[in-house]
Amino acid sequence: MAGKLTMIVGPMYSGKTTELLSFVEIYKLGRKKFKVFKPAIDDRYGKSLVKTHTGLEVEAIAVEGSKDIVNLLEEKIDAVFIDEVQFFDKDLVRIVKQLIDSNVDVFCAGLDMTFKQNPFETTAALMAIADEVIKKKAVCEVCGEYKANLTYKVTEEEKEIDIGGKEKYIAVCRDCYNNLSKER
Ligand code: ADP
Ligand code: TMP
Ligand code: MG
Ligand code: ZN
Repeated sequence: MAGKLTMIVGPMYSGKTTELLSFVEIYKLGRKKFKVFKPAIDDRYGKSLVKTHTGLEVEAIAVEGSKDIVNLLEEKIDAVFIDEVQFFDKDLVRIVKQLIDSNVDVFCAGLDMTFKQNPFETTAALMAIADEVIKKKAVCEVCGEYKANLTYKVTEEEKEIDIGGKEKYIAVCRDCYNNLSKER
């Protein structure tokens, strides 16, 4: 039977990694064979851990690009988990497609948009081919409502690829994003 692609997307702090780890737990409990990957660019928590903002963690393989994922897979595996897919090259889409066609379940978590509200291309393309898309939201750090679907950058740095946490980014709802942008 073909595998399934599940995408977990949303702004920062929306629980994407937490949800990814809860799927890892299910495969672990079922004694399935799986591997967890993350892009090497995200060095926040050390090279070989996928970690949530609350400190939950699981061992992972840090890879430079999507090709490394193929090279690191063994003959028979039940599932592949990938965090921070927004940082992968577009070739990840072809690789994920191959995996689901060869009966592997794939779970990906990643940002759907940059802080400028531009779609992250690899996430967008994966969402298009996914069997299921779980769109998460966070608590807006300005108004306190549970409807934050955007990430706002609080520093002056304009780079759209810039690793960091609360010192750089907050989760906000659309109204608060627009108000903060006007105040600049
Ligand atoms: P993501 O991978 O989407 O950035 P994580 O799964 O790593 O998210 O972390 C989610 C956790 O972040 C929540 O369980 C909560 O404890 C914490 N958190 C911090 N700020 C917020 C926020 N604004 N809204 C919701 N959760 C937040
Ligand atoms: P998170 O979704 O697990 O919180 O991690 C998101 C990572 O992406 C974090 O290191 C910050 C980074 N990031 C960017 O590089 N550009 C952006 O536009 C945003 C919103 C986050
Ligand atoms: Mg995360
Ligand atoms: Zn708000």
